[in-house]
Amino acid sequence: MAYNLLKGKRGIIFGALDHDSIAWKVAEHAFEEGAKFTLSNTPLALRFGEINDLAEKTGSKIIMADATSVEDIERVIKESMEALGGKLDFILHSIGMSMNVRKDRAYDDLNYDFYHKTLDVSAMSFHKVLQVARKLDAINNWGSVVALSYVAAQRTLFRYNDMADAKAMLESIARSFGYIYGRDKKIRVNTISQSPTITTAGKGVKGIDNLIDFTERMSPLGNASADECADYCVVMFSDLTKKVTMQNLFHDGGFSSMGMSYRAMQMYNKSIEAALKDGTLDIDD
Ligand SMILES: NC(=O)c1ccc[n+]([C@@H]2O[C@H](COP(=O)([O-])OP(=O)(O)OC[C@H]3O[C@@H](n4cnc5c(N)ncnc54)[C@H](O)[C@@H]3O)[C@@H](O)[C@H]2O)c1
Repeated sequence: MAYNLLKGKRGIIFGALDHDSIAWKVAEHAFEEGAKFTLSNTPLALRFGEINDLAEKTGSKIIMADATSVEDIERVIKESMEALGGKLDFILHSIGMSMNVRKDRAYDDLNYDFYHKTLDVSAMSFHKVLQVARKLDAINNWGSVVALSYVAAQRTLFRYNDMADAKAMLESIARSFGYIYGRDKKIRVNTISQSPTITTAGKGVKGIDNLIDFTERMSPLGNASADECADYCVVMFSDLTKKVTMQNLFHDGGFSSMGMSYRAMQMYNKSIEAALKDGTLDIDD
């Protein structure tokens, strides 16, 4: 059900790769809520071809960019304002990538070139988007910029690896830039910390299925889907959240506030009992 929450608003959505992408869902929901926007992704992502379907469906222009390049970001923002006929009201940063995760490098055996790239693509690019937008005076007063984060910024989760550092940096950028942009232009900058979700980036984290099962059992409301995340992004772009800024907003069914749930404990007990029975676990282990 649509509420016209983004009627008349213009934006840029970075990071829609395929139908599973969180940014894809945000584009669909923002369109339903009346927004006009451009879509941006890397030339490689565009070669997969799926983003053309989304562009057609939402009447959006696609603008290629590597988000680590300041020149590319400048071009995206300028061309977006031209295509949309004015300054922007919202930007979604939905970009993440770690070669260390992809190549299964352990956190105590990182490849430092990959590590550098992880931080540049997944965190510094957010600063670049904000800095370029501010220098070009591209966002209207009371505009809203959102990036997607993950609870590994606060807590250690096995195998999330150097992406945890990138997310911690991303959330810090939201606070530091949020102060400047809020003070000068009344522009909001926030991160939304989403539940684990099956997407191309999500599948890169080995064992994500088990993690999703665990967080589902641990969260009183269950995991948040990509569609639900898109709803939250729409609200954050709307005028209903004008005084929310510099926040990391958990969108995870309550997971981030849990220690142990009854459902997770039941599962844990079951596997201990099974392991004791088949002799794979000694009670003193
Ligand atoms: N999937 C999850 O479990 C989960 C949970 C919390 C947060 N997130 C975050 O959500 C965001 C979107 O990820 P997703 O899960 O939708 O996966 P996805 O793979 O669909 O999206 C990641 C996007 O980043 C883009 N990208 C990679 N390198 C880039 C570059 N140099 N320049 C521009 N774009 C680049 C990819 O092309 C892709 O579109 C990421 O920041 C991710 O960390 C995902």
